[in-house]
Amino acid sequence: MTEINKQEFANAMFGSQGPWQCPEFPVVEAGDDHTVLYEIPSDGAQGSYRPTVGEDKWDLDHVKMPCSDHNLYFIDDKEGNVGKRWDLIVESLSKPMHNSKDMMDAVLTYQAQFKGIWTFKALHKFFNEYLDESESKKFFEETLPEVAKIALTLPDLVKSPIPMLKKGQNKSVSLTQWQLASLLANAFFCTFPERNNKRSESDYRTYPPANFNSLYDSGGPKVMEKLKCICHYFSRICKEQPTGVVTFSRRHISAEDCPDWSNCSLPISTVPLFVDAETLIEDAEGCIQVDFANKFIGGGVLRRGAVQEEIRFVSNPELIASLLFTEVMEPTETVCIIGSERFSTHTGYSMSFKWSGSYKDETPRDSPNRRRCAVLAMDARRFPRPEEQYTKEMVDRELNKAYVGFSFYSRQEGMNYPGVATGNWGCGAFGGNARLKSLLQLMSCVVAARPISYYTFGDEELRVDIVRVYNMLVENNVTVGDLYKYILQFCESDVERTTLYGYLEDRIQNR
Ligand code: AR6
Repeated sequence: MTEINKQEFANAMFGSQGPWQCPEFPVVEAGDDHTVLYEIPSDGAQGSYRPTVGEDKWDLDHVKMPCSDHNLYFIDDKEGNVGKRWDLIVESLSKPMHNSKDMMDAVLTYQAQFKGIWTFKALHKFFNEYLDESESKKFFEETLPEVAKIALTLPDLVKSPIPMLKKGQNKSVSLTQWQLASLLANAFFCTFPERNNKRSESDYRTYPPANFNSLYDSGGPKVMEKLKCICHYFSRICKEQPTGVVTFSRRHISAEDCPDWSNCSLPISTVPLFVDAETLIEDAEGCIQVDFANKFIGGGVLRRGAVQEEIRFVSNPELIASLLFTEVMEPTETVCIIGSERFSTHTGYSMSFKWSGSYKDETPRDSPNRRRCAVLAMDARRFPRPEEQYTKEMVDRELNKAYVGFSFYSRQEGMNYPGVATGNWGCGAFGGNARLKSLLQLMSCVVAARPISYYTFGDEELRVDIVRVYNMLVENNVTVGDLYKYILQFCESDVERTTLYGYLEDRIQNR
């Protein structure tokens, strides 16, 4: 099959019935490798979930909850008595907050060790200068008291421990969108113990920061626009409670179980490729949409970052909850999140990124009540010196990482899960070469038996190049193993790095 048009691709991707008829992702079923934080309704009734009840855990295998009885602080008395920090949180967040200073003062009553350290300068700028006075006033009068209430319902909403998705594990956790709202409201008020941005000194140094203080202490227009997305999310959910479910899954394969790339005899032609310069990955409905991730999921979402991953996370804020429980990804690990909802639209990118309004997400839901939206977080290697990507070690690293992602929910056993929507993975902030990365992702899709749609982010020349090379590989019946060997030969050569495609065309057409 050569490069195809959109309709043909949709058929290959989803079958002739279209994206929503393809079989569901694995349903939500509690088990040793899947923690479900709500009672799965036996009668199929959706939307009114009861939390599962379990014993509070205060250890590194679970999220330490702000409302835990173990979350203690020293009362300022001579006897060294301790109090429950949650009582302080309840007291502080129950008082009226009229402006960002009140909010900071409230936070610093229960995060007292950060008095004089946290300034929340971005938060003050946002509410005092960036937003219209009337918008700020409305937020503090109408939305913030509701966000505080949602935060304070945490003990009623999440009653069993949330497991950490740790390195080396194949595990999932499912929560309702409303449970996620409460967790996010707590992160917004920085209530999580030990989860501040002090990575080097903390037991959580292998986790991303979870409280929003690092965002409030950053600055610049990108942070202002991200705060708009987050405030918009809260104002939306305060008006209308989201009723669905989200599943977060971590996948690990040992390096030995990754494909033997040089001996792979699958022809490239076994998967269809669609290449498009206009569409954005988040608009590729029904596909598994790649998040160009940092190994610490979310990347700079709670700091200054505003490229693909951060934009996705502030548009679908439920993704931000993954920062609470996802340990840093190892080279052969990825994370897939099914069911998150998009609340905001944007224009621009990076420095020009701007919130542009509310997004009404009409993505249908699957039977466990998740939006049919799968976001696949996979982190490319960062190449500050681009030459470093042209080694066997790095080629293998990227192939294996993409394979671990694309083989999530394998297509075997007749399950026809949707194809992958990707693009210039690792080729922006991380400095990779899109012509190389597109081929590596294509090879991984072939082995994972997944159709691939590649979005070049406005780069028409790249689109034309990828289509040409794909057709050439198909016409010459090139296998994954062949292509792997040619790529390694290119890496070992001293040919100009911009000429990868010319090199391959020359080698393959003259072989
Ligand atoms: N759809 C399709 N393509 C896109 C989109 C989109 N929505 N957005 C960007 N691109 P980058 P990386 C293209 O730099 O290099 C974050 O901080 C565009 O060509 O976000 O893998 C993470 O947390 C862009 O140049 O990904 C990591 O720390 C290219 O994709 C780090 O950046 C790469 O986007 C990852 O950097």
